[in-house]
Amino acid sequence: MTPLDKLIVALDMNTEEKAVAMAERLKNDVKFLKIGLELFSSCGPGIVERIRETGCDVFLDLKFHDIPNTVAKAAASVASLEPFMFNVHALGGYEMMKRTADAVTAEASRLGIANPKVLAVTILTSMDEKAIKEVGLGLGSKDAVLKLAALAKKAGLDGVVASPSETKVIRKELGEDFLIVTPGVRPEWATANDQKRIATPKIAIKDGANYIVVGRPITESKDPAEAARRIQKEMEI
Ligand code: C5P
Repeated sequence: MTPLDKLIVALDMNTEEKAVAMAERLKNDVKFLKIGLELFSSCGPGIVERIRETGCDVFLDLKFHDIPNTVAKAAASVASLEPFMFNVHALGGYEMMKRTADAVTAEASRLGIANPKVLAVTILTSMDEKAIKEVGLGLGSKDAVLKLAALAKKAGLDGVVASPSETKVIRKELGEDFLIVTPGVRPEWATANDQKRIATPKIAIKDGANYIVVGRPITESKDPAEAARRIQKEMEI
């Protein structure tokens, strides 16, 4: 895996025009782009194909959380859009994750397309200990994250989205084959924005992340492609 295979750039924008323009500026230096709720809700599912047409692969970050039947069917629809990766909430439970993984495999095989990787979000990194207690979880954040990550693995998911502070322990407990995607990554030369628990690209990769997600330090830079190249260089360890 080269640094090119490890960087995902978040396209947090609200129009197709802006997102495609950014994808065009990045496509020679970045392999993976992330479409989140803002862009998907603004533009609709067609935005996935539009971004894929630039030659980049798409991580569809929609964080599904509903009853097993609903999420499994939505996931089958998502598979037909051919993202290389998408995600659900682990708090939806074992059955929801298992049925989702099965539905995606069945749909991909029916369509003769690659199986997208399915990731679980464990505990949102925006939740601190107080917020976790408020929703009634009787575990601290670290135990909750590990428990949910293990459940995701048991359900057949490919990996998790995790904050830099959780990467090391997940890698240690769940092994080398379990994917870890880490947002909240900031190179030393960038501002933190609203991210709190941050790590540099080098540390995130050293701690065991397979992919890092970076948004604003690249997309708000004067030269996004150059910023992406600098981050990839920083990842070389
Ligand atoms: O601009 P920035 O680098 O902060 O963007 C990070 C991206 O990763 C955003 O799209 C954000 O929604 C996403 N993300 C995050 N923390 C999580 C999960 C996703 O920052 N726990």
